[in-house]
Amino acid sequence: MRAMTERVPFPHRHLLGIEDLSPADIRMILDLADDAVVLNRAARKKRDVLKGLTQINMFFESSTRTSASFELAGKRLGADVMNMAVKASSVNKGETLIDTAMTLNAMHPDILVVRHGESGAVNLLAQKVNCAVINAGDGRREHPTQALLDALTIRRRKGRLHRLTVAICGDILHSRVARSNIHLLNKMENRVRVIAPPTLCPAGIDRLGAEVFHDMREGLEGCDVVMMLRLQQERMAGGFIPSHREYFHRYGLDEHKLSAAADDVIVMHPGPMNRGVEIDSDLADDINRSVIQEQVEMGVAVRMAVLELLAEGMEVAV
Ligand code: NCD
Repeated sequence: MRAMTERVPFPHRHLLGIEDLSPADIRMILDLADDAVVLNRAARKKRDVLKGLTQINMFFESSTRTSASFELAGKRLGADVMNMAVKASSVNKGETLIDTAMTLNAMHPDILVVRHGESGAVNLLAQKVNCAVINAGDGRREHPTQALLDALTIRRRKGRLHRLTVAICGDILHSRVARSNIHLLNKMENRVRVIAPPTLCPAGIDRLGAEVFHDMREGLEGCDVVMMLRLQQERMAGGFIPSHREYFHRYGLDEHKLSAAADDVIVMHPGPMNRGVEIDSDLADDINRSVIQEQVEMGVAVRMAVLELLAEGMEVAV
């Protein structure tokens, strides 16, 4: 990896959302993540840039790849990593969160990685503690490291991260992944489309800079990248879709719908997938088009880059 002195300092104390980043910040993270990919593919992966620092991961919502990759990323860079076993409380969430934050703060962590079901909860927490905070997904708002790992995957596959047409499809309404990706792809000057049934398409999404489609083949026409989203049933009280079968028929990605996209289209999904609901199972495993496993690999690299950049900022601050 590049030595810190060769870089301009990363100008943020926390990573709370893509909305706060400039194109230069995004490039800095992705360049460093490219180096981390090389390290991760080597037999010995350990570095010591986070040595002596304590990273606490707090996931108030369930997670597989995000929490695993943040844990691995911290450990590969030499941090002491602790995973707090927290479950979303049904009562008085605001108070619980601040109490938890103050308790953790008293243990002097250097980095807190937080996922929470309420939009804005991680930003609130960042105001209460005096360490770096990384948003690992807050409600429907943002999931910045997911958008960054998606961007890294696209940049490596397509050789660029600008002037691409990207379709984000499915449950846009409940998706922090969609919001972070719309911000990032617009900042990097791509064309963003969202394709969703009207019930799963939030009002005003076009104001974020996305062209709205309700028909898959129309929206996929000529696309370079297709991002499928999970139907977030845990956030639905019912009535959003007629049935899984009907949803797959109209909005599930299959060969026929995908044939409207560019010949060299890549298919992405942040995981976890509902096979046969939002994506055809064979297509998800098609190594010629699906980059879903690569996204997971890039997830570790991007999280290492973010941890390293935030840690450098701490050294500058002392
Ligand atoms: C996403 C999330 O939690 O926002 N998953 C992830 O981080 N890989 C998307 C989802 O849950 O569908």
